[in-house]
Order: sequence, then C-alpha cells, then structure tokens
Amino acid sequence: MSVESASDFLGIKRISNVVAVTLKRMREYARPGMSTKELDEYGRRMLQEYGARSAPKIIYNFPGWTCISVNHDFVHGIPSENIILKEGDLVNIDVSAELDGFYSDNGGSFILGKDLQQLGPLVEASKNILLKAIDQIKGGVKIAETGYLIETEAKRYGLKVIKNLAGHGVGRSLHEEPYEILCCYNRSNKKRFRKNSVVAIETFISTKATYAYEKSDGWTMATKDSSFVAQHEHTIMVTGDEPVILTEANGIWG
Ligand code: CO
Ligand code: CO
Repeated sequence: MSVESASDFLGIKRISNVVAVTLKRMREYARPGMSTKELDEYGRRMLQEYGARSAPKIIYNFPGWTCISVNHDFVHGIPSENIILKEGDLVNIDVSAELDGFYSDNGGSFILGKDLQQLGPLVEASKNILLKAIDQIKGGVKIAETGYLIETEAKRYGLKVIKNLAGHGVGRSLHEEPYEILCCYNRSNKKRFRKNSVVAIETFISTKATYAYEKSDGWTMATKDSSFVAQHEHTIMVTGDEPVILTEANGIWG
C-alpha cells in the first residue's frame, strides 16, 4: 500500500504494533518442553485480544495462527503438538495479521536458551544485515540494490542467501506489489522503492544452500542439504529519508 493519509498511517501503525508485540511476547514465552502448537495458541490469544486476525489463515487458509519453524525447517512451519522445543533449537516465529483492513508482517529467528549448535553468528549476521538493508532504503532506490547489499553482506560473513524467497509489499493485503524484494542481486529488476509505500523486508541467510524447497505438507520450507537459515523481517514505510520501521516494537535487534 501507499500511505496517503493520517488514517492510513494510523491503520498500518496499529496492526504493525500488534504483530510486533505478539512476536516479542511469543519469543519470550517460548521455552524447552513446549510444543509449537502451545506457542501458537499463546500468539492466537494475543492477536484475538487486539481484535486482529491471522493473515496467512484468512488469506491462504494456513493451519495455524503464526508460522513457527524449528532448526532445519526455517519458515512457514505449521504449529504442531508433535514439535517440542528443545534447548539450543534455532526457532523462527513469523507473525502477520490483519486489523481494520490493514496488514503487517514481521518475523525473527532466535536460539532457544543455550547456543548448543553454535548458531549465534548466523542469527547475529541476519539481524545486522536486515538493519543495514533497511538503512539504505528510501524513495528512488532500486529494489535490486537491496538484494545486492544483502547478498554481499552475507558473503562478508562467509554465509549464503536463499534466492527463491523474498520480501514484498504489504498493507492492504499480505503480499502486494512490489512482490519480490530478493536477498540477491537481480539485474533485470528495474523497479525502485517509492516514497510512502509499505514493504516487508526480510533476510534469508543460510549456512550453505541457496535454494529452499517446500515440504510435502505444502507449507514448511527447508533446504535439501539441511543448511541452517535465519530470517528476520520488519514492515517499514519508505520515506524520502530514513524509513519508518513500523514493527520496531518486536525488539529483534535487542
Ligand atoms: Co513474515
Ligand atoms: Co513477509
């Protein structure tokens, strides 16, 4: 969407706060021994208290309120009673929801408790890269430049990017134009970020693989070589200067 009025801004700000606070609280609530279903139920209660509806549920009929992915499953994981969180797991929670016709999206990977799999550097790299990518976005900047930056930064850390997943426009639906804000350089994308537009910027930083495939459940994304992948996502509003980070309250940057 493009923010054209004070009420547009209020609407997108309100739902962005809801998804951000829900993500933050879910991350704080997660603990070893808990199923991802239980964690999702906690998120559902929070969203419902705000009067918000799960975006993937209402748009795509996703079987959960939030996406929770563990270890080698890295995004779009279906909350399940059979997936029990353990100390040291790499957990990704992605919360996107609708309120009063406005949609916002955010997500983040974190290590549950002690870093038993030595994934701290991957998670930190993904957070830092998201910060750098967002910093560089303003009206007139080519979308391909963001992809270039994310890929180049990942390389500096000795890491890779997933090339078939992308950030996207958001606001009046979950996925809007521009549909593809890739984590790699796409020379054929000549589009530019426009002032006042609302976009979800997300990293997909990988230890090795560059391609993600969908598992047989039709949702969960993983890599063929069991790479670990960290994702961090904010919904922002593009301006002529620094972007407004609408989901800042999720605290993913600590
Ligand atoms: Co998301
Ligand atoms: Co998204």
